[in-house]
Amino acid sequence: MITILPAEPLHRHTTLNVGGEAEYFVAVKDKTEAVSAVTTALEKNLPITILGGGSNVLVSDSGIKGLVIKNKITGITSEQSGDNILVTAGAGEVFDDLIAHTVAKGWWGLENLSHIPGTVGATPVQNVGAYGVEIADVLVSLTAIDTRTGEERVFSAPECEFWYRRSFFKSALGRHYFITSVTFKVQSEANPQIAYRDLERYFKDQTDYDLEHIRAAVIDIRSTKFPDWSVLGTAGSFFQNPIVSPTVYTELKSRYPELPGYEQTDGVVKLPLGWILDKIVGLKGLRVGNVGMYENQALVLVNYGGATAAEITAFAESIQEKVAAATGIEIEWEVTKL
Ligand code: EPU
Repeated sequence: MITILPAEPLHRHTTLNVGGEAEYFVAVKDKTEAVSAVTTALEKNLPITILGGGSNVLVSDSGIKGLVIKNKITGITSEQSGDNILVTAGAGEVFDDLIAHTVAKGWWGLENLSHIPGTVGATPVQNVGAYGVEIADVLVSLTAIDTRTGEERVFSAPECEFWYRRSFFKSALGRHYFITSVTFKVQSEANPQIAYRDLERYFKDQTDYDLEHIRAAVIDIRSTKFPDWSVLGTAGSFFQNPIVSPTVYTELKSRYPELPGYEQTDGVVKLPLGWILDKIVGLKGLRVGNVGMYENQALVLVNYGGATAAEITAFAESIQEKVAAATGIEIEWEVTKL
């Protein structure tokens, strides 16, 4: 049985603590309820918006028309074959709870993604990544409901079309799919991945790379950079790291010799926007009214309390302009505008 609520305030359902009301709102706890919510919206001709943990969205002050479906589909199952384990989680599971589960079982693969806020179902959408691992490395398949028909479909990893902070599900077509479960591959054989600079530095004088230790290290590093979203409104990194041509990188490097750059397999170069905002534009810790760029990580936008979506948008746009003026680079939001 699903209960559709009118006029639900969405600031309660986002980690930025911002947003007007959903015209209609329903939380679904299993696949049957999810199909029932989709069918109801189709019958009543209501546009559908899916919400997970609300940790990567900026909901407008005027709210969302139609039916907002909050994914609370839980459940974790696993299938082991030798050293390899396939773990399937309901898309409404808290992603970090799943990681706590795999780490407790002694299964390697997800630990570098520890403490990323949000739900399992949101992770493939923007190909979440941290500390050298991204969802594209560990996802095997996912199931989703086509919100135009109510039918279920399975996507293999290649069909998800993963790219840096992007996937098929960010495209206009992909937005029609409501992800209900995700299957990840993990392994019982030790596979420590500590090449990311912060982790390498953390483990410098140590040789104890056990699973619990890597999870603890990631949590420790993150806590020095990201605010606790239950205390301070935030959506983590607000912008994507820009990807530029080698020519643009060489030109910028001649002006800013210290500028780091990470060459990608196809020759283009990913630039750390946090570094640019901090060292070139000098915005780390900048606060305007109720909004600011966090004092410990310049890529993280924070709502100090009472900010509106309009205020955040204006602030974010002013940052985009400053970056463009200083570097010529057009940066894009990582956060999705709803
Ligand atoms: N840096 C600065 N000053 C700052 C921030 C960063 O100099 O204020 C420098 C750092 O010293 C480092 C570089 O910029 O040399 C990159 O910083 P960091 O390693 O913190 O990573 P990031 O590129 O800023 C990305 C992801 C995060 C993820 C971290 C760790 C994006 C948009 N963000 O941030 O993703 O946690 O790497 O791997 O790709 C998230 O968005 O919430 C998230 C989990």
